[in-house]
Amino acid sequence: SDSPSGDSRFNIMTKDKEPIVRSFHFVCMIALIFGTIIQFSAESEFAVNESNKGLTHVPKGLSPKTIVLDMSQNYISELHLSDISFLSGLRVLRLSHNRLQHLDISIFKFNQDLEYLDLSHNQLQKISCHAVTSLKHLDLSFNDFDALPICEEFGNLTQLNFLGLSAKHLQQLDLLPVAHLHLSVILLELEGYYVKEHETESLQILNTKTLHLVFHPNNFFSVQANISVNNVGCLQLSNIRLKDENCHILITFLSELTRGPNLVNITLNHVETTWKCLVRVFQFLWPKPVEYLSIYNATIVEKIDKEDFTYSETSLKALKIEHITNKVFLFSQTVLYTVLSEMNIMMLTISDTPFIHMLCPQAPSTFKFLNFTQNVLTDSIFQECSTLVRLETLILQKNELKDLFKVGLMTKDMPSLEMLDVSWNSLEYDGRNRNCTWAERIEVLNLSSNILTDSVFRCLPPRLRVLDLHSNRITSIPENVIRLEALQELNVASNSLAHLPGCDSFSSLSVLIIDYNSISNPSAHFFQSCQKIRSINAGNNPFQCTCELREFIRSIGQVSSEVVEGWPDSYKCDYPESYKGTLLKDFHVSPLSCNTALLIATIGVTGLVLAVAVTVLCVYFDLPWYLRMVCQWTQTRHRARNTSLHELQRTLQFHAFISYSEHDSAWVKNELLPNLEKEDIRICLHERNFVPGKSIVENIINCIEKSYKSIFVLSPNFVQSEWCHYELYFAHHNLFHEGSNNLILILLDPIPQNSIPSKYHKLKALMAQRTYLEWPKEKSKHGLFWANIRAAFNVKLTLTTENNDVKT
Ligand SMILES: *[C@@H]1O[C@H](CO)[C@@H](O)[C@H](O)[C@H]1NC(C)=O
Repeated sequence: SDSPSGDSRFNIMTKDKEPIVRSFHFVCMIALIFGTIIQFSAESEFAVNESNKGLTHVPKGLSPKTIVLDMSQNYISELHLSDISFLSGLRVLRLSHNRLQHLDISIFKFNQDLEYLDLSHNQLQKISCHAVTSLKHLDLSFNDFDALPICEEFGNLTQLNFLGLSAKHLQQLDLLPVAHLHLSVILLELEGYYVKEHETESLQILNTKTLHLVFHPNNFFSVQANISVNNVGCLQLSNIRLKDENCHILITFLSELTRGPNLVNITLNHVETTWKCLVRVFQFLWPKPVEYLSIYNATIVEKIDKEDFTYSETSLKALKIEHITNKVFLFSQTVLYTVLSEMNIMMLTISDTPFIHMLCPQAPSTFKFLNFTQNVLTDSIFQECSTLVRLETLILQKNELKDLFKVGLMTKDMPSLEMLDVSWNSLEYDGRNRNCTWAERIEVLNLSSNILTDSVFRCLPPRLRVLDLHSNRITSIPENVIRLEALQELNVASNSLAHLPGCDSFSSLSVLIIDYNSISNPSAHFFQSCQKIRSINAGNNPFQCTCELREFIRSIGQVSSEVVEGWPDSYKCDYPESYKGTLLKDFHVSPLSCNTALLIATIGVTGLVLAVAVTVLCVYFDLPWYLRMVCQWTQTRHRARNTSLHELQRTLQFHAFISYSEHDSAWVKNELLPNLEKEDIRICLHERNFVPGKSIVENIINCIEKSYKSIFVLSPNFVQSEWCHYELYFAHHNLFHEGSNNLILILLDPIPQNSIPSKYHKLKALMAQRTYLEWPKEKSKHGLFWANIRAAFNVKLTLTTENNDVKT
């Protein structure tokens, strides 16, 4: 099946029916399968395919290890010993559809493993005999032999299973040499057969399970030979064209063939005849021991009239008619259907026909199994029909059914119906104020490939065990609408479902197929709700790989891996984009990002740690002080940016700004100031040059900005003064003279390193560099000290006075 939903899981359903259906074909099957076994086992290793290559000779240079050699469909007309004798391992040789006219079978004498030899569809008229005793399959059909090409030596082919032959004439004892072999299949092609005048030919076929006769596809049937069979269980006739008046030729031909008591299976392929003749064939076979009759590719010609049919007692169990072409245009449908609907058999299959209706049997019918796949049946089929009392299985796949309500109504009087297949129709259920009626016993219902929507769950037989709804238009499974307590298997693949169903309404559910839907966030609740589940297929859904999905993935991990069909390969993320294509198995997110409580707790803890850190910083490292500094500095910077360089130059009004502690003011006023001003160095003292209306800080900054250098008078007092640190800080970060170049440090009194609080690391660093001028205690050294200071100002600088006149 090409459906994506893994229908093989639905084995519960087929279990009951299988034995009947299987035996139906059993006898013919063994025969057909046989040839392919050899074919497959050897094909992989050393298989050489030279078919359809326009060859006229067997190609040179084949590997001696060749096991399978296919040279069919070429123009080879001769085969020599040297062509193949060295292929000692050769087991399969295909030479069909070539131009061989003569063949000496002894050329295969060195190919002692040769099992399969296909020489069909050549122009062979003669073969020279030899026994290749390993042969299991020998096909000489579709050649130009006049008489059956049977040699005495064939009697030694004890392994032979399949024998294909062709002939234009038959003789009673032609097959005697192989009569003792236990053949599975004899294929006898009689396309070239023609009737010799005044002679009735006959042939005895002694020992084969299946006999397949092939007649000419275009000529009218004319074989008047008595072919008698002994043990045949399965008879196939291909290509029967019959005019109405010649129907008796076929009947006569069949009467000899069907004499054997073991013939249970008859298949007719490609039949072209009248309805009347077909009915005569049925009638002829009715009392025979045949149990299974199949007709493939029937063409009905000329006319269809009412035919009487006597439904005598019959061994026939199953009639199967597949693919009918009707070339009659004007006829009464009833005439056609009556013959079929009244049949007293168990199983009837009519598929791939133009039949638009089927009649309700007039009396209680024997049908247990009806298969009307792929016809043109409508909702009117079997309405008000109460004679199908034994019907267990009804298949109406691929027809023109439209109304689910009517389908339910149809089954109402089918008390034995257990399995109904109405897949591949156009079924809908409008669900408006009509309560569906169903046969009581329906257990398996196939509604797949229709156009049903959610409402279908309001119109289902209550005792369902298996429900197939795949490929419909269901978007959700309504809860509490219907309770399907017995439902074990539910297939809703290829719909538009957005959620996994719970099992509240399906307490026995054990198999759920729900792949190819629109499920993005399956809830893990499913596994709790559906305790009896032993298989779920939810693959190929557009899974949304987010936190919610983790629960589902985890619950999959908890159930055994056999329960989840297709895991892990068909379970992939579809969203978000970054995860697209990732297997759910490999999808992991951190527990943190999914758990809100955990997330809040983490944020709380982080906040707390941060708060503690800030507090520590504040208490031990005086953070607010630095913050204030930064704030001021930024403002200054901002101001600076808005002032042009030229203007900045003009703002320099002083040579130096002096920063000192109040306690050292005596020294500053008595020593420093007089000494500097004596040298014409203009000094800015913030208390002296105080601009009213500005804050102290602004005044300090103002002073620093207007000064070329900053002098710091360092002493233990300085260290204690907060203001002084401010000033040092600003001076150091002065925008106009970057670096510590603009700083002049005077160490008035020694400062012990450890007396500087650690928060003033700037001062510490400057002290450590020892780039300060020490105020000597000795008077004699004072001269040098002042010289040093003066040197620091050894720069010509244009200063602007307050009243804007220029000094040098
Ligand atoms: C229903 O029918 C579809 C196709 O017609 C088939 O593939 C599927 O296996 C059927 N389901 C069951 C349960 O038999």
